Amino acid sequence: MSADTMRAVVQDGFGGPEVLRVQQVPRPVPLPTEVLVRVHAAGINPVDWKTRGGTGMAGLLGEPPFTLGWDVSGVVEEVGFGVTTLKPGDAVYGMPWFPRVANGYAEYVTGPARQWARKPATVDHVHAAAVPLAALTAWQAVVDTANVRAGQRVLVTAAAGGVGHFAVQFARHLGAHVIATASAARHPWLKELGADETIDYTTTRFEDAAADVDVVIDLVGDAHDQTSTRSLKVLRAGGLLVAIPQGVSPELAQAAEAAGVRVTPFLVEPDGAALTTIADLIDAGEVAVEVEETFPLEQAGAAHARGENLRTRGKLVLTVTN
Ligand SMILES: NC(=O)c1ccc[n+]([C@@H]2O[C@H](COP(=O)([O-])OP(=O)(O)OC[C@H]3O[C@@H](n4cnc5c(N)ncnc54)[C@H](OP(=O)(O)O)[C@@H]3O)[C@@H](O)[C@H]2O)c1
Repeated sequence: MSADTMRAVVQDGFGGPEVLRVQQVPRPVPLPTEVLVRVHAAGINPVDWKTRGGTGMAGLLGEPPFTLGWDVSGVVEEVGFGVTTLKPGDAVYGMPWFPRVANGYAEYVTGPARQWARKPATVDHVHAAAVPLAALTAWQAVVDTANVRAGQRVLVTAAAGGVGHFAVQFARHLGAHVIATASAARHPWLKELGADETIDYTTTRFEDAAADVDVVIDLVGDAHDQTSTRSLKVLRAGGLLVAIPQGVSPELAQAAEAAGVRVTPFLVEPDGAALTTIADLIDAGEVAVEVEETFPLEQAGAAHARGENLRTRGKLVLTVTN
C-alpha cells in the first residue's frame, strides 16, 4: 500500500450486490480548478444500484470496471491550481461530476471546486454524506423547477425516502401545505418533519385522499402502480407534476395535456451554491437529516441489498475513513 494508491469499491461487471468489491487503485490527482477530498463517508442512492445492474447512469459510464458513488463528505487534502475558495483542511460535502462517473465509494475523490460546499457544521460526516444528491434533487425540484410558494398544496410521493424527507421539509420551509405518501409507521415522523397530511399508500389510493394540488413531487414513477399517471388526477388545472424517477413517457405527456396540467422530467445537477444554502438550513435547525443505517466500505454490497428493498427511512451511508 503506497501513498499513490487507495481503497475503492470496484465492479468488474454489471450484476447484483456481489459485484461490489474493495480493491487497491491509483489515488486521483486534482487538475487545475479541482480539489482532492479525503472521504470520510459516502452516501448511497438508488441510482447507484440501478447503475450497478446496468441501468441508471450505466449508459454514460460505459462498461465496467468503474467505481460507483456520487455523494461524499470529507476533508480537502489538496487543491489544484487556481482554486481560491477552498483550502486543505476544509470540511466539505458534494455531489461532484454527476451524471459522469465520480468514484465516490473510495478513500479519495477529486471534483471541480465549485461543485463542493462547506459541510454543515452541526452534523457529522455520515449525516453530511447523506445530503447532496437527495437534497439537491429535492431543492432543484421544489425550488428551482416548481417554484413552490407559501400556501400552495404540494404532494410528495415516497416522502419517507432519501429525496422525499428533504422535499417535505423544503416545501414546508417555503410555507406550502404538504401532503406525504408513506407507510403508516412513518407518519408520526413525517408530521414532525412538517407534513400536514399523510396518506398510507398501502391501504389508500392517494388520488382518493388528495385534490387541488399545485405541485406533485413524484418519487415513485409509473413503473410502480402507475404512480405518475395517477398523480395527474390530484392536480388542479395548470398544476405541475415533476416526474423524477423515470421521466415523462409520450403516454404520460399526452395524459397531462388532456388533463390540462403540466409535467416535466427532471435530472439532478451538481450545485455547490445550493449546497451552501442547504447547509445553512441544516445548521439553523430548519432541516433534519435522517440516516437509517451505516455500512463500512467493505460492505457496500450489503448496503445496496438493503436499499434495494425500497423501504429505507431517510438514507444509507458508507463509512470510509475516520
Ligand atoms: N431524476 C433524478 O435526478 C433523481 C434524483 C434522485 C432520485 N431519483 C429517483 O427517485 C426515486 C426515489 O429516490 P430516493 O433516494 O428517495 O429513494 P429511497 O430513499 O430508496 O426511497 C425509499 C422510500 O420509498 C418509499 N416507497 C416505496 N414505494 C412506495 C410507494 N409505492 N408509495 C410511496 N412510498 C413508497 C418507502 O416508504 P415506506 O418505507 O413508508 O414504504 C421508502 O421510505 C428513485 O427511483 C431514484 O432513482 C431520481
